[in-house]
Amino acid sequence: MRIFAAAAAVLAVTIASADVRADPIVIKFSHVVAENTPKGQMANKFKELVESRMGDKVKVDVFPNSQLFGDNKVLEAMLLGDVQIAAPSLSKFKKYTKKLQVFDLPFLFTDIEAVDRFQNSPKGQELLRSMEDKGLLGLGYLHNGMKQMSARRPLKTPKDAKGLKFRIQTSDVLAAQFKAVKAIPVKKPFSEVFTLLQTKAIDGQENTWSNIYSKKFFEVQAHITESNHGVIDYLIVTSSEFWTDLPADVRGGVEKAMAEAIAHGNQVALDKAVEDRQKIIDSGRSKVIELTPEQRQKWVDSMKPVWGKFQKEIGKDLIDAALAANETS
Ligand code: LMR
Repeated sequence: MRIFAAAAAVLAVTIASADVRADPIVIKFSHVVAENTPKGQMANKFKELVESRMGDKVKVDVFPNSQLFGDNKVLEAMLLGDVQIAAPSLSKFKKYTKKLQVFDLPFLFTDIEAVDRFQNSPKGQELLRSMEDKGLLGLGYLHNGMKQMSARRPLKTPKDAKGLKFRIQTSDVLAAQFKAVKAIPVKKPFSEVFTLLQTKAIDGQENTWSNIYSKKFFEVQAHITESNHGVIDYLIVTSSEFWTDLPADVRGGVEKAMAEAIAHGNQVALDKAVEDRQKIIDSGRSKVIELTPEQRQKWVDSMKPVWGKFQKEIGKDLIDAALAANETS
């Protein structure tokens, strides 16, 4: 009888402790690019780090290739609690803040190192919190790289773009940029770009080497101009509510894993900007055009007036801070 009572007591304790063991917190991380890209690799690294360190408390489910949400839906879904982390391109936040448009100004940054310096400057860090009133919080920036223009015909000077339809991200600055060279900007989600190019519904697009390679745009675009005219980088974003509700130890662990995953993704970005460019050249499917300084200057002269149109919305202070980041000393 006594054995029986002892066994019952042990069972009761076991059941009670099972009851208090909470289910792990699930972080859904949604993105639109392939896994073999800076963002894809960063997301996978984040999952690996979080689960190896806190797997009993936190689980990370990564959804690449617009599997869960595409560009237009992911931030709304985040505010509804249907996804916890995303990393949209900085060109996709215009509904929530106009300030991030600074990253879209054509020919603002000399290279990705300048972009990095600006992001790490006090003004750049301030931007992480520019959507707090809308319930969104930036956890950090992630690089992809400088943008190149591709088209069905060679683009050497701005007049070559006249009348061509270019797919753009949902940014009014990018629309103005293509209108400045008398081209026709068409706002479309990333997931549709390959088919639009393949069916010739559009004539061209602008993107980074890693996106042009991983999504096979180079197979359906005969010419890529190495213009480096702008940047595609990302804001790692979460909902302020989700973030503040996390237990402090989990939040600290997630933050640390995020910083390490970003560092990893940034290295992948630097490598892919070189490797994927070379793979495209080696494929022979698309001809890469290097601009002469005179040709490049013509693009600068045509597109740079766009800055003036957006200066008020973005803020001169931000544009000046971005320009200052071009100085190396
Ligand atoms: C695009 O829409 O072209 C890019 O923003 C996709 C991405 O996330 O790199």
